[in-house]
Amino acid sequence: MKQWGVTLQKCNRDFEKVQSKVQLSLPLSCTESSALPLNGRAPIITGGSRGIGRAIALHFNSLGARLVINYASNSTHADQLVSLLNSSAAAGAADDGGLPQAIAIKADISDEQQVKTLFDKAEAVFGSIQILVHSAGILDPKYPPIASTTVADWDETFSINTKGAFLCCRAAINRFARGGRIIMISTSLVGGLQPGYGAYTASKAAVETMIKIAAKELKGRGVTANCVAPGPTATELFFQGKSEETINRMVDLCPLGRLGQTHDLTPIVGLIASDAGEWINGQVIRVNGGAIV
Ligand SMILES: NC(=O)c1ccc[n+]([C@@H]2O[C@H](COP(=O)([O-])OP(=O)(O)OC[C@H]3O[C@@H](n4cnc5c(N)ncnc54)[C@H](OP(=O)(O)O)[C@@H]3O)[C@@H](O)[C@H]2O)c1
Repeated sequence: MKQWGVTLQKCNRDFEKVQSKVQLSLPLSCTESSALPLNGRAPIITGGSRGIGRAIALHFNSLGARLVINYASNSTHADQLVSLLNSSAAAGAADDGGLPQAIAIKADISDEQQVKTLFDKAEAVFGSIQILVHSAGILDPKYPPIASTTVADWDETFSINTKGAFLCCRAAINRFARGGRIIMISTSLVGGLQPGYGAYTASKAAVETMIKIAAKELKGRGVTANCVAPGPTATELFFQGKSEETINRMVDLCPLGRLGQTHDLTPIVGLIASDAGEWINGQVIRVNGGAIV
Protein backbone atom coordinates (compact mmCIF):
# COMPACT_ATOMS: atom_id res chain seq x y z
CA MET A 1 0.00 0.00 0.00
CA LYS A 2 2.95 2.29 0.75
CA GLN A 3 3.97 2.09 -2.91
CA TRP A 4 0.45 3.05 -4.02
CA GLY A 5 0.28 5.91 -1.49
CA VAL A 6 3.36 7.39 -3.14
CA THR A 7 1.73 6.72 -6.52
CA LEU A 8 -1.38 8.70 -5.51
CA GLN A 9 0.72 11.70 -4.48
CA LYS A 10 2.76 11.48 -7.69
CA CYS A 11 -0.43 11.27 -9.76
CA ASN A 12 -1.73 14.44 -8.14
CA ARG A 13 1.55 16.26 -8.84
CA ASP A 14 1.67 14.99 -12.43
CA PHE A 15 -1.89 16.12 -13.00
CA GLU A 16 -1.14 19.66 -11.85
CA LYS A 17 1.87 19.71 -14.21
CA VAL A 18 -0.23 18.46 -17.14
CA GLN A 19 -2.89 21.03 -16.32
CA SER A 20 -0.47 23.95 -16.22
CA LYS A 21 1.17 22.80 -19.48
CA VAL A 22 -2.22 22.65 -21.19
CA GLN A 23 -2.92 26.21 -20.10
CA LEU A 24 0.53 27.46 -21.08
CA SER A 25 0.43 25.77 -24.49
CA LEU A 26 -2.94 27.13 -25.56
CA PRO A 27 -2.65 29.52 -28.50
CA LEU A 28 -3.27 33.14 -27.53
CA SER A 29 -6.66 33.29 -29.19
CA CYS A 30 -7.77 30.28 -27.14
CA THR A 31 -6.56 31.73 -23.88
CA GLU A 32 -8.74 34.77 -24.38
CA SER A 33 -11.53 33.98 -22.00
CA SER A 34 -14.35 34.57 -24.46
CA ALA A 35 -12.97 31.85 -26.77
CA LEU A 36 -12.99 29.18 -24.08
CA PRO A 37 -15.85 26.67 -24.22
CA LEU A 38 -16.99 27.09 -20.61
CA ASN A 39 -16.53 30.84 -20.42
CA GLY A 40 -19.40 32.47 -18.55
CA ARG A 41 -20.41 29.20 -16.86
CA ALA A 42 -20.16 28.40 -13.17
CA PRO A 43 -20.63 24.66 -12.70
CA ILE A 44 -21.46 23.12 -9.35
CA ILE A 45 -19.14 20.18 -8.74
CA THR A 46 -20.30 18.04 -5.84
CA GLY A 47 -17.40 16.23 -4.21
CA GLY A 48 -15.23 18.74 -6.04
CA SER A 49 -12.63 19.09 -3.31
CA ARG A 50 -10.82 15.80 -3.85
CA GLY A 51 -10.15 13.04 -6.36
CA ILE A 52 -12.11 12.97 -9.61
CA GLY A 53 -14.24 16.02 -8.77
CA ARG A 54 -11.14 18.10 -8.06
CA ALA A 55 -9.56 17.11 -11.38
CA ILE A 56 -12.77 18.05 -13.20
CA ALA A 57 -12.80 21.41 -11.42
CA LEU A 58 -9.24 22.18 -12.54
CA HIS A 59 -10.01 21.09 -16.10
CA PHE A 60 -13.19 23.17 -16.23
CA ASN A 61 -11.24 26.17 -15.00
CA SER A 62 -8.77 25.70 -17.86
CA LEU A 63 -11.82 25.75 -20.16
CA GLY A 64 -12.88 29.14 -18.79
CA ALA A 65 -15.38 28.20 -16.06
CA ARG A 66 -15.76 29.57 -12.58
CA LEU A 67 -16.39 26.87 -10.03
CA VAL A 68 -18.63 26.00 -7.13
CA ILE A 69 -16.70 23.41 -5.15
CA ASN A 70 -18.90 21.33 -2.88
CA TYR A 71 -17.60 19.06 -0.12
CA ALA A 72 -19.01 17.25 2.90
CA SER A 73 -16.67 17.76 5.84
CA ASN A 74 -13.03 18.30 4.92
CA SER A 75 -12.74 22.04 4.39
CA THR A 76 -8.93 21.95 4.10
CA HIS A 77 -8.95 20.32 0.66
CA ALA A 78 -11.79 22.53 -0.57
CA ASP A 79 -10.16 25.74 0.68
CA GLN A 80 -6.78 24.81 -0.83
CA LEU A 81 -8.37 24.19 -4.23
CA VAL A 82 -10.38 27.41 -4.12
CA SER A 83 -7.33 29.48 -3.23
CA LEU A 84 -5.33 27.76 -6.01
CA LEU A 85 -8.06 28.60 -8.53
CA ASN A 86 -8.47 32.16 -7.31
CA SER A 87 -4.74 32.83 -7.45
CA SER A 88 -4.18 31.04 -10.77
CA ALA A 89 -2.76 33.11 -13.62
CA ALA A 90 -5.20 31.33 -15.89
CA ALA A 91 -7.96 32.71 -13.73
CA GLY A 92 -7.90 36.16 -15.16
CA ALA A 93 -11.00 36.89 -17.11
CA ALA A 94 -10.94 40.62 -17.69
CA ASP A 95 -14.71 40.87 -17.66
CA ASP A 96 -15.13 39.24 -14.27
CA GLY A 97 -17.04 42.07 -12.61
CA GLY A 98 -15.31 41.19 -9.36
CA LEU A 99 -16.56 37.62 -9.34
CA PRO A 100 -14.27 34.99 -7.79
CA GLN A 101 -12.96 32.15 -9.93
CA ALA A 102 -14.17 29.66 -7.36
CA ILE A 103 -16.05 29.32 -4.10
CA ALA A 104 -16.35 26.38 -1.72
CA ILE A 105 -19.70 25.35 -0.26
CA LYS A 106 -20.03 22.74 2.45
CA ALA A 107 -23.18 20.65 2.02
CA ASP A 108 -24.06 17.02 2.65
CA ILE A 109 -25.67 16.08 -0.64
CA SER A 110 -27.76 13.37 1.02
CA ASP A 111 -29.69 16.10 2.88
CA GLU A 112 -32.52 17.78 0.96
CA GLN A 113 -32.25 21.13 2.74
CA GLN A 114 -28.45 21.26 2.32
CA VAL A 115 -28.75 20.55 -1.42
CA LYS A 116 -31.23 23.41 -1.71
CA THR A 117 -28.86 25.70 0.19
CA LEU A 118 -25.95 24.60 -2.04
CA PHE A 119 -27.81 25.63 -5.20
CA ASP A 120 -29.20 28.82 -3.59
CA LYS A 121 -25.74 29.95 -2.44
CA ALA A 122 -24.17 29.14 -5.82
CA GLU A 123 -26.86 31.17 -7.62
CA ALA A 124 -26.48 34.04 -5.16
CA VAL A 125 -22.80 34.39 -6.11
CA PHE A 126 -22.78 33.48 -9.82
CA GLY A 127 -26.34 33.99 -11.00
CA SER A 128 -27.94 31.13 -12.86
CA ILE A 129 -26.06 27.83 -12.80
CA GLN A 130 -26.04 25.78 -16.01
CA ILE A 131 -23.84 22.78 -15.23
CA LEU A 132 -23.92 20.15 -12.49
CA VAL A 133 -21.19 17.55 -12.17
CA HIS A 134 -22.21 15.20 -9.41
CA SER A 135 -19.03 13.45 -8.24
CA ALA A 136 -19.68 13.12 -4.50
CA GLY A 137 -19.82 9.49 -3.52
CA ILE A 138 -18.63 6.84 -1.09
CA LEU A 139 -17.40 3.25 -1.32
CA ASP A 140 -17.48 0.84 1.63
CA PRO A 141 -13.78 0.00 2.20
CA LYS A 142 -14.71 -3.33 3.79
CA TYR A 143 -15.85 -4.65 0.38
CA PRO A 144 -18.42 -6.95 2.02
CA PRO A 145 -20.23 -9.64 0.06
CA ILE A 146 -23.98 -9.04 0.05
CA ALA A 147 -24.39 -11.84 2.65
CA SER A 148 -22.53 -9.78 5.24
CA THR A 149 -23.50 -6.25 4.20
CA THR A 150 -25.16 -4.57 7.19
CA VAL A 151 -28.38 -2.65 6.79
CA ALA A 152 -26.59 0.43 8.13
CA ASP A 153 -23.85 0.19 5.48
CA TRP A 154 -26.39 -0.45 2.70
CA ASP A 155 -28.44 2.56 3.83
CA GLU A 156 -25.41 4.84 4.06
CA THR A 157 -24.26 3.89 0.56
CA PHE A 158 -27.70 4.46 -0.92
CA SER A 159 -28.24 7.64 1.07
CA ILE A 160 -25.12 9.33 -0.31
CA ASN A 161 -24.70 7.67 -3.71
CA THR A 162 -28.33 7.34 -4.79
CA LYS A 163 -30.47 9.74 -2.77
CA GLY A 164 -27.71 12.35 -3.04
CA ALA A 165 -27.61 11.94 -6.82
CA PHE A 166 -31.41 12.19 -6.97
CA LEU A 167 -31.52 15.37 -4.86
CA CYS A 168 -28.83 17.08 -6.93
CA CYS A 169 -30.29 15.91 -10.22
CA ARG A 170 -33.77 17.08 -9.20
CA ALA A 171 -32.47 20.49 -8.15
CA ALA A 172 -30.68 20.86 -11.49
CA ILE A 173 -33.75 19.77 -13.49
CA ASN A 174 -35.90 22.30 -11.67
CA ARG A 175 -33.46 25.17 -12.09
CA PHE A 176 -31.45 24.76 -15.31
CA ALA A 177 -32.33 26.72 -18.43
CA ARG A 178 -31.68 25.79 -22.09
CA GLY A 179 -28.08 24.68 -22.59
CA GLY A 180 -27.93 23.11 -19.12
CA ARG A 181 -25.82 20.02 -18.49
CA ILE A 182 -26.34 17.37 -15.82
CA ILE A 183 -23.42 14.95 -15.48
CA MET A 184 -23.36 12.21 -12.86
CA ILE A 185 -20.23 10.21 -12.04
CA SER A 186 -21.27 6.57 -11.92
CA THR A 187 -18.95 3.54 -12.17
CA SER A 188 -17.91 0.99 -14.79
CA LEU A 189 -18.60 -1.63 -12.10
CA VAL A 190 -22.23 -1.52 -13.23
CA GLY A 191 -20.84 -3.42 -16.23
CA GLY A 192 -18.12 -5.30 -14.32
CA LEU A 193 -20.36 -6.63 -11.50
CA GLN A 194 -17.53 -7.48 -9.08
CA PRO A 195 -18.16 -9.41 -5.85
CA GLY A 196 -17.66 -7.19 -2.79
CA TYR A 197 -19.20 -4.16 -4.44
CA GLY A 198 -22.90 -5.11 -4.14
CA ALA A 199 -24.33 -2.05 -2.40
CA TYR A 200 -21.99 0.35 -4.18
CA THR A 201 -22.71 -0.98 -7.66
CA ALA A 202 -26.46 -1.21 -7.06
CA SER A 203 -26.45 2.38 -5.75
CA LYS A 204 -24.83 3.59 -8.98
CA ALA A 205 -26.96 1.38 -11.26
CA ALA A 206 -29.97 3.23 -9.88
CA VAL A 207 -28.35 6.55 -10.78
CA GLU A 208 -27.69 5.39 -14.35
CA THR A 209 -31.34 4.39 -14.73
CA MET A 210 -32.53 7.66 -13.22
CA ILE A 211 -30.38 9.74 -15.55
CA LYS A 212 -31.66 7.99 -18.70
CA ILE A 213 -35.24 8.72 -17.66
CA ALA A 214 -34.32 12.29 -16.68
CA ALA A 215 -32.91 12.86 -20.18
CA LYS A 216 -36.30 11.87 -21.64
CA GLU A 217 -38.27 13.92 -19.11
CA LEU A 218 -36.17 16.95 -20.09
CA LYS A 219 -37.62 16.78 -23.60
CA GLY A 220 -38.03 20.26 -25.07
CA ARG A 221 -35.92 21.92 -22.38
CA GLY A 222 -32.53 21.84 -24.16
CA VAL A 223 -30.89 20.37 -21.06
CA THR A 224 -28.88 17.14 -21.34
CA ALA A 225 -28.36 14.45 -18.70
CA ASN A 226 -25.59 11.85 -18.81
CA CYS A 227 -23.43 9.60 -16.67
CA VAL A 228 -19.69 9.23 -16.95
CA ALA A 229 -18.69 5.86 -15.50
CA PRO A 230 -14.99 5.58 -14.62
CA GLY A 231 -13.07 2.38 -14.05
CA PRO A 232 -10.46 2.03 -11.28
CA THR A 233 -8.95 5.50 -10.80
CA ALA A 234 -6.11 6.49 -8.49
CA THR A 235 -7.88 8.40 -5.71
CA GLU A 236 -8.24 7.96 -1.96
CA LEU A 237 -11.61 6.29 -2.48
CA PHE A 238 -10.02 3.70 -4.75
CA PHE A 239 -7.01 2.86 -2.59
CA GLN A 240 -8.83 2.57 0.73
CA GLY A 241 -8.97 -0.99 2.08
CA LYS A 242 -7.24 -2.62 -0.91
CA SER A 243 -4.07 -4.73 -0.71
CA GLU A 244 -1.21 -4.20 -3.11
CA GLU A 245 -2.00 -7.59 -4.61
CA THR A 246 -5.61 -6.58 -5.30
CA ILE A 247 -4.50 -3.34 -6.93
CA ASN A 248 -1.93 -5.13 -9.10
CA ARG A 249 -4.62 -7.61 -10.19
CA MET A 250 -6.86 -4.73 -11.23
CA VAL A 251 -4.03 -3.08 -13.15
CA ASP A 252 -3.44 -6.38 -14.93
CA LEU A 253 -7.09 -6.47 -16.07
CA CYS A 254 -6.64 -3.24 -17.99
CA PRO A 255 -5.45 -3.68 -21.60
CA LEU A 256 -3.43 -0.49 -21.20
CA GLY A 257 -1.66 -2.02 -18.18
CA ARG A 258 -2.11 0.79 -15.71
CA LEU A 259 -4.50 2.37 -13.28
CA GLY A 260 -6.73 5.20 -14.47
CA GLN A 261 -5.65 8.69 -13.46
CA THR A 262 -8.10 11.48 -12.74
CA HIS A 263 -6.90 13.39 -15.82
CA ASP A 264 -7.92 10.41 -18.01
CA LEU A 265 -11.54 11.30 -17.20
CA THR A 266 -11.63 15.06 -17.47
CA PRO A 267 -11.63 15.59 -21.28
CA ILE A 268 -14.88 13.68 -21.84
CA VAL A 269 -16.57 15.50 -18.96
CA GLY A 270 -15.40 18.81 -20.42
CA LEU A 271 -16.82 17.87 -23.81
CA ILE A 272 -20.21 16.84 -22.42
CA ALA A 273 -20.37 20.07 -20.40
CA SER A 274 -19.66 22.28 -23.40
CA ASP A 275 -22.03 23.41 -26.18
CA ALA A 276 -20.24 20.94 -28.48
CA GLY A 277 -21.52 18.11 -26.27
CA GLU A 278 -25.19 18.78 -26.91
CA TRP A 279 -25.76 15.63 -28.95
CA ILE A 280 -24.52 13.40 -26.11
CA ASN A 281 -27.70 12.88 -24.12
CA GLY A 282 -29.17 10.11 -21.97
CA GLN A 283 -25.93 8.13 -22.16
CA VAL A 284 -23.71 6.22 -19.77
CA ILE A 285 -20.15 6.66 -21.00
CA ARG A 286 -17.68 4.17 -19.55
CA VAL A 287 -14.16 5.55 -19.33
CA ASN A 288 -11.80 2.85 -18.11
CA GLY A 289 -8.98 2.14 -20.59
CA GLY A 290 -10.76 -1.05 -21.63
CA ALA A 291 -10.65 -2.60 -18.15
CA ILE A 292 -14.39 -3.25 -18.38
CA VAL A 293 -15.94 -3.54 -21.84
N1 LIG B 1 -11.84 6.37 -7.79
C1 LIG B 1 -12.41 5.38 -8.48
O1 LIG B 1 -11.78 4.34 -8.76
C2 LIG B 1 -13.82 5.54 -8.97
C3 LIG B 1 -14.26 4.66 -9.98
C4 LIG B 1 -15.55 4.78 -10.44
C5 LIG B 1 -16.39 5.75 -9.93
N2 LIG B 1 -15.95 6.59 -8.95
C6 LIG B 1 -16.90 7.58 -8.45
O2 LIG B 1 -16.33 8.85 -8.63
C7 LIG B 1 -16.82 9.75 -7.64
C8 LIG B 1 -15.64 10.46 -7.01
O3 LIG B 1 -14.82 9.47 -6.40
P1 LIG B 1 -13.33 9.81 -5.94
O4 LIG B 1 -12.55 8.58 -6.18
O5 LIG B 1 -12.90 11.11 -6.49
O6 LIG B 1 -13.58 9.94 -4.34
P2 LIG B 1 -12.76 10.75 -3.22
O7 LIG B 1 -11.38 11.02 -3.67
O8 LIG B 1 -12.98 9.97 -1.97
O9 LIG B 1 -13.56 12.15 -3.12
C9 LIG B 1 -14.86 12.14 -2.66
C10 LIG B 1 -15.43 13.53 -2.67
O10 LIG B 1 -16.84 13.43 -2.36
C11 LIG B 1 -17.13 14.27 -1.24
N3 LIG B 1 -18.24 13.70 -0.49
C12 LIG B 1 -18.34 12.48 0.09
N4 LIG B 1 -19.54 12.35 0.69
C13 LIG B 1 -20.22 13.50 0.49
C14 LIG B 1 -21.48 14.01 0.88
N5 LIG B 1 -22.33 13.26 1.62
N6 LIG B 1 -21.83 15.26 0.51
C15 LIG B 1 -20.99 16.02 -0.24
N7 LIG B 1 -19.78 15.61 -0.63
C16 LIG B 1 -19.38 14.36 -0.27
C17 LIG B 1 -15.83 14.34 -0.45
O11 LIG B 1 -15.83 15.49 0.40
P3 LIG B 1 -15.00 15.47 1.83
O12 LIG B 1 -13.55 15.58 1.48
O13 LIG B 1 -15.52 16.64 2.58
O14 LIG B 1 -15.32 14.15 2.47
C18 LIG B 1 -14.83 14.45 -1.61
O15 LIG B 1 -14.80 15.75 -2.11
C19 LIG B 1 -17.63 8.91 -6.66
O16 LIG B 1 -19.00 9.07 -6.95
C20 LIG B 1 -17.19 7.49 -6.97
O17 LIG B 1 -18.20 6.55 -6.68
C21 LIG B 1 -14.69 6.50 -8.46
